[in-house]
Amino acid sequence: MEQKTGIFLVTSGEHPTLPLSEAKAILDAYKVDYRVGETHYKLVELEAPASAADLVAKRAGYVEEAGIEIFHSLPEPAEIKKTMRSLDLTRYISPQESFSIRVARYGGISKEVSRVKLEAELGGVMLSQIAARVDLENPIRRFRGMLAGPYFHFGLQTFKRPRGSVGRRRPRKRPAFHPSTMVPKLARCLVNLACATEETVFLDPFCGVGGILLEASLLGCPVLGVDALRRMVRGARRNLVHFGTLPFGMILADARRIPITKVGAIATDPPYGTGASTLKATTKEILRDFLPEAREILETNHRAVVVSPLGTGVSALAEDSGFKVLEDHRVYVHRSLTREILVLSKR
Ligand SMILES: C[S@@+](CC[C@H](N)C(=O)[O-])C[C@H]1O[C@@H](n2cnc3c(N)ncnc32)[C@H](O)[C@@H]1O
Repeated sequence: MEQKTGIFLVTSGEHPTLPLSEAKAILDAYKVDYRVGETHYKLVELEAPASAADLVAKRAGYVEEAGIEIFHSLPEPAEIKKTMRSLDLTRYISPQESFSIRVARYGGISKEVSRVKLEAELGGVMLSQIAARVDLENPIRRFRGMLAGPYFHFGLQTFKRPRGSVGRRRPRKRPAFHPSTMVPKLARCLVNLACATEETVFLDPFCGVGGILLEASLLGCPVLGVDALRRMVRGARRNLVHFGTLPFGMILADARRIPITKVGAIATDPPYGTGASTLKATTKEILRDFLPEAREILETNHRAVVVSPLGTGVSALAEDSGFKVLEDHRVYVHRSLTREILVLSKR
């Protein structure tokens, strides 16, 4: 078994609870042995096998970068340098390699510490141990200093999300657009909260033009999409094909009577006030009829993630249908819409 080490994740800071839940769900889905350490605004520290850093960062919607933590110390430059000098840095870089050290500050703390000065000083400590080359543009090794919470954290970056990779998937960049479609980071997060892996048959029973399906498909899941409108089913398929993936199946059907027998994960955004058709039912009525159906086709101990507008009473409806509510997140969209995201488990 791979040994546990300190790993760090830098999240996008867009939401207070979703990024950590998403990271945990990915680790749970892949049965990784981990322990959550401290979290300070964008920085999440975990004890886990080193490979978990990239596993999470590559899959998560809300993780921007990840790496291995080398040390942490009090956030005073003298203390940071003393700790760094006491370590064998040759474990992290060899003489032929180039490196950069970048320091970030999360949450407006330790303002008296100059990031630029610290970067230069830590570069000096590195060079006193190893005859490597500084390259700020395109280094082989990227070291990260992070002023977060009561500590300074120092680590080796192992993954950074390529610039523009999310922008390319923006709803307006897809061939089929509908205003109700979901933005990529949140859609990706929902798929991960549902603990979907490449082995999981994933279902979005109100798939629209496929914002959630696309993310699940790009993560390698076999995906099934259901929608009551033909133009949506067609649009979702076009969008998936545009990004080089194919659905496992697209079905024109009513999600309150899903013609599927078993799936391993569900994440969905039933219709409400976003221009999506509700087939003359209220969101509450749809959820009331859909949730027992979802429970029926979901494998035991697997998850369904359901989005609804706050105030629909979805929690009670889910429990009445036999689901266990694992998590409840709120996402403010605008003055008249806050989304409630429930993570449900079939007992
Ligand atoms: C909010 S949209 C889904 C958006 C989708 N998650 C995306 O990112 O593109 C809701 C969808 O539910 C569909 N719908 C409404 N009632 C339905 C029903 N009873 N069964 C299946 N689909 C339904 C609508 O046609 C609409 O496309």
